Amino acid sequence: MKIFNEIGPLRTYLKEITTNGRTVGLVPTMGALHEGHISLVEASKKANDITISTIYVNPTQFNNPSDLQKYPRTLEQDAALLEKVSCDVLFCPTDAEMYPDKTLIKFDFGHLDKVMEGEFRPGHFSGVALVVSKLFHICEPTRAYFGQKDWQQLTIIKRLVNELKFNIDIVCIPIMREADGLAMSSRNRRLNPELRSQAPIINQSLRLASELLRKGEEVATVKKAVKEAIESQTELKLEYVEVADPVNLTPMNRVDKSAEAIIFVAAFAGEVRLIDNMYLE
Ligand code: PAJ
Repeated sequence: MKIFNEIGPLRTYLKEITTNGRTVGLVPTMGALHEGHISLVEASKKANDITISTIYVNPTQFNNPSDLQKYPRTLEQDAALLEKVSCDVLFCPTDAEMYPDKTLIKFDFGHLDKVMEGEFRPGHFSGVALVVSKLFHICEPTRAYFGQKDWQQLTIIKRLVNELKFNIDIVCIPIMREADGLAMSSRNRRLNPELRSQAPIINQSLRLASELLRKGEEVATVKKAVKEAIESQTELKLEYVEVADPVNLTPMNRVDKSAEAIIFVAAFAGEVRLIDNMYLE
C-alpha cells in the first residue's frame, strides 16, 4: 500500500496509475477503523481497479472542541488493517495540507442540514461537504463509498454531487453491527464497560419503534417509547429521535403502513455521542 501525506505527490501518482480508463474507488474516513469502514474498502476493491482510503480527522466538522480533541487517533493500526485488506493507497494529510488558510467557504443545504444532526451539530455538514469536496477534487474517483450509518451525511453528499456536477457515483453500504446490535463506530472505543453494556438499547429501541410503526402506532407514541427504552439505562440520555422521509429527510408525524421511512436516533452514553438509524421495512 502506498501512503501519502501530501496532495502533490498523491496527484502525480494517481495520474501515473489511472491510465487506460482504470477506475478509482474512494473511501473517506476519520480513522480509528473498524469492520464497518473495512466493509466500505472491500466493496470498493470489488468494483474498482484502485482503492484509495483517506484518514483525516476534519476539524471543520466538529462543533464541539472536546469531541475533536478526544476523537480516537490510531493511524498505525489503521494502516495495518488497510494493508491487510489490500487497500492500494492511503492518504492521511495534515491540517496544514488540507487547510493552509482558515477556510472562508460555508455550505448551506437548506432543510437537509437543519434537522437532526444539523440541528444538534450546527456547521457540521458544512465542514463535511467542504472536506469531501476537497477529497473529490484531489482523488477524482469513479465511485465514492459512504455508510448508511450516517444517512443524513449520505443524503447531503448526494445533493452536493448533483448540484456541483461531480462525475462520481455515490455508493451506500449497510450498517455493520456488533453481535448485540450496537452499530460499529470509532466512538465505541471511548465506552467504558458499563456504558458499553448499556449502549445496545439504542438499536433495540429502533427495532421496537419499527415494529410499533408497522403496526400503525402514532409517531408521537413511538418516539416516547424510544425515549423511555433508552433512558431506562442509567447512563444513557436521548438527544433526539426522529421519523423522517428517507429522501428529503422531512420529519413525518404519521407513517402509513406501507410508506417508506427511516427512524433516526442520537443518544449520549455518558459523554460519548452515538447515532443509529433503521429503515422501516
Ligand atoms: P467516519 O465516521 O470515519 O466514517 C467513515 C465512513 O464509514 C462513513 O461513510 C460512515 O458512514 C461509514 N461507517 C461508519 N460506521 C459504519 C458502520 N458501522 N457500518 C458501515 N459503515 C460505517 O463519516 C465520516 O467519517 C466523515 O464525516 C467523513 C465522510 C470522512 C468526512 O470527514
